[in-house]
Amino acid sequence: MRTQVGIVGAGPAGLTLARLLRAEGIESVVLEARSRDYVEHRIRAGVLEQGTVDTLVGAGAGERLRREGIVHHGIGLQFGGERHRVPLSELTGGAAIVIYGQTEIVKDLIAIRLDAGDPLHFEVEDVAVHDVESDRPRITYVHEGRPQELECDLVAGCDGFHGVCREAIPAGVLTEFWREYPYGWLGVLAHAAPAHGEVVYCNTERGFALLSLRSPEVSRLYLQCRPDEDVGEWPDERIWEELEARVAVPGYTLNRGPIAEKGVTGMRSYVAEPMRHGRVFLAGDAAHVHSPVGGQGMNTGIGDAMNLGWKLAATVRGWARPGLLDTYEQERHPVGEMVLRMTDGAYKLVMARTRAGLALR
Ligand code: DHB
Repeated sequence: MRTQVGIVGAGPAGLTLARLLRAEGIESVVLEARSRDYVEHRIRAGVLEQGTVDTLVGAGAGERLRREGIVHHGIGLQFGGERHRVPLSELTGGAAIVIYGQTEIVKDLIAIRLDAGDPLHFEVEDVAVHDVESDRPRITYVHEGRPQELECDLVAGCDGFHGVCREAIPAGVLTEFWREYPYGWLGVLAHAAPAHGEVVYCNTERGFALLSLRSPEVSRLYLQCRPDEDVGEWPDERIWEELEARVAVPGYTLNRGPIAEKGVTGMRSYVAEPMRHGRVFLAGDAAHVHSPVGGQGMNTGIGDAMNLGWKLAATVRGWARPGLLDTYEQERHPVGEMVLRMTDGAYKLVMARTRAGLALR
């Protein structure tokens, strides 16, 4: 089999890239190791920056996002027992963030791709990328029990931190930067009406808490915890009590309701360099991992796809000037690095203000 761009990974970066390429008339095949059900239900952050919204709407994937996304013209910051509002739109001349789960974006992009009849294969096994230094890279994999070989002009590795595409970069060439933080976020999805219309970031002596939302009926809530926190030790009642203790300000009560999902996300940052080797390009978590703060993982992943899409298209068509593809790394690596520095600064601030670093136990 042949395609113009082989895309490994059906997360936000891979699916957005596939969509942008299609708009340029470029064929691609998307390969995903997980099942459709799995990728459509893994709960992730939900903050879309203006540029991400613009990319998705421009790519024709903004219909439900526009209908159901919760536009925020401001956010709340709570500390010292007081809540303050940061009027984002006023301060930025009209830009806003939109709360819309990454899970929903993935569902929308999958539906659009499958409706168009474009190739997207789930549950592929033994994916490996070969000959990336030649002008005919190949991806081998097993699909529905049959070994397959896909010859490509270019390969996009959008297969996340645990993906295989980064392995195509020789050890002596790859540089990796890590930072592991000594805490995590316990995230819950609750069938409870959000008591707040906008996200609120709370800094308290008991640890950080974040009030977010998914719809008028569903709240998304986070509590700072240990990175190895056992979710089993968090019955619903304990979660609500801890949230209340951290977010209470006069005149404010949290609405309680059944908790549908609970999970712990460890906080870590990772940046790999280079983002390109020969004909393989890394995008999203394959190249840089960020904490869930501010939805930075999804926003930078979609930003990578936006930057890479038209450049791959121009290259496949033979219209690119020499060196065009090098600009992807030149432009996107500093973004990954900046987000890492920004997150690091924010964490140090939170840690300094949280008594004993981690208040739980
Ligand atoms: C979510 C919201 C945030 O403001 C954030 O920083 C991270 C995650 C969320 O709704 O999942």
